[in-house]
Amino acid sequence: MKIWHGQFLAAVAASLFLAGCNQSSAPGAGGDTIKVGEFASLTGKDATFGISSHEGTLMAVEEINAAGGVLGKKLELLTEDTQCKAGESATVVNKLVSRDNVVAILGEVASSRSLEAAPICQQNKIPMISPSSTNPDVTKTGDYIFRVCFIDPFQGTVMANFATKTLKAKRVAVFTDVKSDYSKGLAKFFKEQFKANGGEIVVELDYNGGDKDFKAQLTAIKAANPDGVFVPGYYTEAALICVQAKQLGVNVPLFGGDGWESEKLFEIGGDAIEGNYLSTHYSPMAAGSDLSRKFVANYQKRWNGKTPDALAACGYDSALVLADAIKRAGSSDGQKVRDAIAATKDFPAVTSRITINEHRDATKSAVILRIKGGKYEYLETVEP
Ligand code: PHE
Repeated sequence: MKIWHGQFLAAVAASLFLAGCNQSSAPGAGGDTIKVGEFASLTGKDATFGISSHEGTLMAVEEINAAGGVLGKKLELLTEDTQCKAGESATVVNKLVSRDNVVAILGEVASSRSLEAAPICQQNKIPMISPSSTNPDVTKTGDYIFRVCFIDPFQGTVMANFATKTLKAKRVAVFTDVKSDYSKGLAKFFKEQFKANGGEIVVELDYNGGDKDFKAQLTAIKAANPDGVFVPGYYTEAALICVQAKQLGVNVPLFGGDGWESEKLFEIGGDAIEGNYLSTHYSPMAAGSDLSRKFVANYQKRWNGKTPDALAACGYDSALVLADAIKRAGSSDGQKVRDAIAATKDFPAVTSRITINEHRDATKSAVILRIKGGKYEYLETVEP
């Protein structure tokens, strides 16, 4: 992890402080606290993902601790920055497991980064809960790997049905980030359902996450004359694609999945994202539970008036589900915690009630949002 000077001083101060209060540093459950690892993209290309997710996760840990902690101990959240760099997730998760002896790991948002770290958690029998990685392969890594969100076969189906029924699209272009497991998976599941609905994929094009110029592909997309363009990517590229599509006169809706969700989408996309659509996990505008309303109010208080996005809500839920499992296990032993997470049933969380199914995924509804007037407008909730 790269640290700038101020952070370095803060980290030194924090570690001195922790060394002072925490006599035994290993194993993770043996000291005065229960150590929980978190890995998230706090810097780099998709940084708003990790920042939002971390804010939700940290707030949950603070609330749990304020209410007395778990098994008579405080949770101690150890957060590592994956910097949106390939290879970094494996490095930091190895560190959390071997050096810090954490009892469980929360993270990552992006599927490619969860896929990179999951085998390490599995091998070491450290339960891992991804708050929001949606590629189905993440939890297939093994029986210690869980998530508290839906998966992309569902999200792809939701957006294909939305294209067919609401947009009345018959001919769609698909524009995929071939560097991202998330993007490739979501494109595949979208196409399967859209074709099953009788639709036609008129053109398929690729880009690489990090690209800035999409004009060549967008020119080909325009020439194919689609009714809509599905862009299953992350916000930086999705916003630039919207901007360049508008410049080139692609005058049909563009739409994507949860990867579009970021305040940066509005900053980068400006006017060009107006009238476009995305699916995601949670909206503070949907009629939610009391728990959801309380979460929104507390989050705004804790984070300077910021409204929580889906990532924050999923991060919050991942920590709640873990704390509940440790409580039910009556122990922070890895296998017992694993078994308790697997047995999670109808647990009241912010995004919805969470039941972990036999594939270690959560079966949950999706929300569809439209971008209107520089804001998200809530359209509908789609049940599984
Ligand atoms: N689902 C995305 C992935 O698997 C990550 C993501 C979740 C992005 C929620 C935005 C909001 O990579």
